Amino acid sequence: MNKKITIAIDGYSSTGKSTIAKQLANQLGYVYVDSGAMYRAMTFFAMKNEFISKDHFDVTSLIENLDKAQLKFIYNPSIGFAEMYLNDENIEKAIRTLEVSNFVSQVAAISEVRKKLVTIQKEMGKNKGVVMDGRDIGTVVFTDAELKIFMTSSAETRAKRRFDELIEKGQEVSYDDVYTNVVDRDRVDTTRKDSPLVKADDAIEIDNSNLTKEEQFAIILKLVEEKLRDV
Ligand code: CDP
Repeated sequence: MNKKITIAIDGYSSTGKSTIAKQLANQLGYVYVDSGAMYRAMTFFAMKNEFISKDHFDVTSLIENLDKAQLKFIYNPSIGFAEMYLNDENIEKAIRTLEVSNFVSQVAAISEVRKKLVTIQKEMGKNKGVVMDGRDIGTVVFTDAELKIFMTSSAETRAKRRFDELIEKGQEVSYDDVYTNVVDRDRVDTTRKDSPLVKADDAIEIDNSNLTKEEQFAIILKLVEEKLRDV
């Protein structure tokens, strides 16, 4: 019963992966890792160094400078989860903007970026007891995860959730822009060459369009308990 497992949660943008992953990690005493935050951090790094902007993306310079981006998660007890740091700067808030969302899928499509981040992610999960969410966790990062979940819901539901979240954070965004971003990211993430977003064969698909957070948590916790009985 004390054996720890690895839980991989993948799915489309704004499906509430991180909410459920955090809840599970809290309940089980596991480490939660937001792999999307790492791709967002690399995007922030690329924006800050002007490797990427609206009409230009200098992939070569980004690749040449990858070593200059040091990523760290530091636990913040007042909010109960780890925040993203880039070269010792807390960038947790800065990476959640629509501007970063508008560039992140382009940066995440670069194989060198993925290689750097996947290496760190594998290291973070090597002792199990981890819940990681993202796009390629069950298919690339932890192919042997005991439990793989694939989250879906309609684009409208997801855009509405993300819009509400951004408004609550005080960001000035329009629903249409958020919707466009959600759909665009799905397209780029599912069609890229390296590690496209795809449901792993052994993942359990959950469509949460019509589920409350509580219902969703209960369903997934039951799956975890079944897996824990087997190990
Ligand atoms: O906005 P949302 O929470 O849905 O996305 P996120 O988890 O913060 O991820 C942002 C972006 O990072 C995705 O749209 C992907 O382009 C990329 N990503 C990835 O390629 N692989 C991962 N394991 C996680 C994120």
